Amino acid sequence: MEDRHNSDLIEFYKILLSDDRKKWQNPQLILRQFGDLRGKRLLEVACGPGYFLRHAAALVGPQGFVLGIDSQPLAIKMCRERLEAAGFSNYHLAVKDAMETPWQLGTFDCVLIANALHDFGDANSVLRNVGESLEPNGKVMIVDWKKIHTKFGPPIEKRLSKKQAEAIMLQAGFSKTSSYEGLPYHYLLVWKKNIR
Ligand SMILES: C[S@@+](CC[C@H](N)C(=O)[O-])C[C@H]1O[C@@H](n2cnc3c(N)ncnc32)[C@H](O)[C@@H]1O
Repeated sequence: MEDRHNSDLIEFYKILLSDDRKKWQNPQLILRQFGDLRGKRLLEVACGPGYFLRHAAALVGPQGFVLGIDSQPLAIKMCRERLEAAGFSNYHLAVKDAMETPWQLGTFDCVLIANALHDFGDANSVLRNVGESLEPNGKVMIVDWKKIHTKFGPPIEKRLSKKQAEAIMLQAGFSKTSSYEGLPYHYLLVWKKNIR
């Protein structure tokens, strides 16, 4: 994401939380592609203001746990306000650069990277960290913008095609387990890590 002034960033994050988004990126439908989340430990890398994380906290339930990280303090502040307002206590949030190594955030059943893979300067470092934080049977979900012209979303030259995203994941030591084709502007790919 390009550098933005604070007021632009607030506006950008408000748009990410808009109700309209549910029409083309329904968070429950997307999170359901992980399977039954009850009791699971879920990490969202680059969680922004918590559009997905609030629904994830509900789906994992009181026996589960969600962690959201983002490099923008404002994103984490807005995310905290959103989760607090919804009354959840099964979450933790941290300002963190996902490319930073070592990561040491714990072990997770599910990792979500939504609308962010194309944004990472060094996706390999992020994915190495993800791999180290994943349970042996854990799943990683990549949701990102199709490389097609749309009226909104990141510029087309910044986007990764589905093939490019797949190549990055294969190179980082993951195997695809499923995909979902029903989103108008996004591809959705689910991966597990290769056991050596
Ligand atoms: C388009 S927003 C998506 C937020 C959220 N996943 C969603 O779909 O609503 C991308 C987010 O990635 C975060 N981000 C970009 N690079 C990052 C990095 N290296 N480490 C952590 N967060 C990062 C940005 O701060 C921003 O909040």
